[in-house]
Amino acid sequence: MNGAAVLECARNGQADWRSFDAEEYRNQHYKFVRDDDRQIMGITRDFFSRAGVSGGRALDLGTGTNLYPALSMMPFSRSLTLREYSPANLAWLAEHQRTGLDRGWDAFWDVFLESPAYRRTDPRAKFAAAKIQPGSVFTLPRHRFDLGTMFFVACSISSDPAEFELAIQRFVGALRPDAPFVAAFMRRSSGYEVAGRRFPAVPVDESDVHGCLSPLTTSLRVIPVESDMSHADGMIVATGRTRSSRRRD
Ligand SMILES: C[S@@+](CC[C@H](N)C(=O)[O-])C[C@H]1O[C@@H](n2cnc3c(N)ncnc32)[C@H](O)[C@@H]1O
Repeated sequence: MNGAAVLECARNGQADWRSFDAEEYRNQHYKFVRDDDRQIMGITRDFFSRAGVSGGRALDLGTGTNLYPALSMMPFSRSLTLREYSPANLAWLAEHQRTGLDRGWDAFWDVFLESPAYRRTDPRAKFAAAKIQPGSVFTLPRHRFDLGTMFFVACSISSDPAEFELAIQRFVGALRPDAPFVAAFMRRSSGYEVAGRRFPAVPVDESDVHGCLSPLTTSLRVIPVESDMSHADGMIVATGRTRSSRRRD
């Protein structure tokens, strides 16, 4: 993690999350299934399909307008919490829940349907029942959830490496011992723009992700994913289970 490589410096509380243009972000990234997301969904689908959880309490942290991490946990959960900090993204989620999961997500769900584990789940009913929870990664309650996802959040909410590490610790700490999780990261991101506004990032690589997660987890896999996104040098996916030890956070 080289903080000096980031052009602008902003801690999480300094970025303008109120002005995050949710619709524009969705249009930029999730209007159709890109190859990088397809690969990440495949890794996530196969991991959760074999993780042995059923009827769990699922957490997706920093959902924004990306619903595929939530889709990935639906067959294995009895409750689904989408925790978000940005009022703009919370409003988008609430409106999307009111109008129902739109047809755009069908192409994402089709990737999950390649596993039989997903074929008895109705994603629209699960999304309608999801709990949209306002809140920060930094104030998450401990040991509440049985499975979790955190996609492009720890690396993309601050340019402070200490906040990157703390976000990972809080996410893992919110899960119960031995809970399976998937986390995704931009690789060496220089920050990103949404509708002309800049948002901060910490430029992490596989060794940073491994270094932060390995003391807290077991059976950790850190997997590079190629991507042509211009502000980063690919993506990284981590899968694993939280450690049983209560000392992890
Ligand atoms: C780069 S976006 C990623 C969104 C989505 N998870 C995805 O995969 O595209 C970062 C997300 O983190 C949210 N966020 C910012 N600060 C946060 C905080 N302190 N706690 C939780 N989420 C936060 C933002 O509102 C935004 O939705």
